[in-house]
Amino acid sequence: MEEHLVDTYEGCVHALKQKDLRQSLYDAAALMMSDVLVNLHGAEHRARRLVEGKIFRKDVFLHYEKTFLPRTLDETISPFLEAGRGDLVDIGYRVMMNLTVDFAGIDRPERSHEETSELLRLLKEFSLAPALGQSIEADIEPKKARIRKAMAEFDERFFTPSRRRREALLTEVEAGRMAKEDLPDDVLMALILGQEKLQMTDEQFLQEGIFYMLAGAHTTIHSLAHAMHELFEWLDEHPEDVSRLREDPFFIQRCVFESLRLHPSSPVAKRRALCPVALAEGEEVPEGDEVVVNMREANRNPELFGEDPDRYNPHREIGGGKTSYGLSMGYGMHACLGRNLAIGVEPRSNSTPEDHQYGTVPLIVESLLRFGVQRDPDGEPKKDETITRITWSEYPVVFKPEEALI
Ligand code: HEM
Repeated sequence: MEEHLVDTYEGCVHALKQKDLRQSLYDAAALMMSDVLVNLHGAEHRARRLVEGKIFRKDVFLHYEKTFLPRTLDETISPFLEAGRGDLVDIGYRVMMNLTVDFAGIDRPERSHEETSELLRLLKEFSLAPALGQSIEADIEPKKARIRKAMAEFDERFFTPSRRRREALLTEVEAGRMAKEDLPDDVLMALILGQEKLQMTDEQFLQEGIFYMLAGAHTTIHSLAHAMHELFEWLDEHPEDVSRLREDPFFIQRCVFESLRLHPSSPVAKRRALCPVALAEGEEVPEGDEVVVNMREANRNPELFGEDPDRYNPHREIGGGKTSYGLSMGYGMHACLGRNLAIGVEPRSNSTPEDHQYGTVPLIVESLLRFGVQRDPDGEPKKDETITRITWSEYPVVFKPEEALI
């Protein structure tokens, strides 16, 4: 089996649209991801995406942004504020875990510190799976054993009870004792409502529940750490932009887009040919071969993204109908379902600050800046050295509200 590399923007878009190229990035993570949405293909993928897509509505997202996110942010950041310091990755995990778990439909009946810590521990174990294919360790079996154990623990304590509670609610609705509108607005409920059509097994339900914790939390946390790092560095060099932060309500979102362009959560997508497929430039990919779609490279094309494409520059002008964050939210049939929730919608000339959808990452950045976040002068940010892509594993910060930039 050969690998075929695609690294032009148009080539990547073309490859991601091909119906005869199927997802293969998560092959090494099959034990946890074989049957999740991002790994399904054709009619099965379409049917599940349709069922889950019902939750990804503008009104649901706006409700999250306006009510749920500010509360979760205040609750989560306040102990760090009191301590005057914290770790960006840790803070990101705590905020996003709470948000994503609710969106996915995983109940937290106790809402205790122990319960949150346990969910965090499990989430970190699950995050080993998608990176298995990029592991530089020779023996990945120990990681697989940890993932299996975490799946069983999550199922017993969190997933099955959440599923049973929702099934019981549906029984109440069917018996006419409860209104359908009062059912929870989350992914698990949507799947239970769609079960007649989807016919999912218990294992598929469990995998999908875990996938949402990862798809929502893990990607967002790492995008947040990159966004903060790039912004700190930029403001060191461009202190004049502090006033822009204060005056332009859309500037933080622009900064997040630019960071996301440089740091897609996965630098490449991978697809396998189900039959011979022609790539954009004419190359023929035989059945069974893999296509490596290099989104990181495509996002750095100087013809599309301008001068010095490897450098972070939130003032970069990007035309030609391309999004400012390039292909970092995917493209085609697997394009990110949570995009607007994570990074909002691109501001238009008629956008107004009051009803604009900013997205979770820009809103967390804004909130951290309001709390006076700064790099910890006594700490050293660390990168995860066990995988080939760059993610921050530790990013120590201090909070000085009296010196807040906004
Ligand atoms: C900044 C944060 C995020 C980034 C960078 C990101 C990026 C991506 C990318 C690149 C894909 C396509 C993968 C592929 O083609 O192989 C994807 C798919 C997906 N994302 Fe996101 N995502 C983010 C946040 C979220 C959130 C918050 C959610 C939901 C709560 C979410 C849900 C999904 C789902 C369900 C898919 C699979 C769609 C499908 O296969 O049809 N994502 N994401």
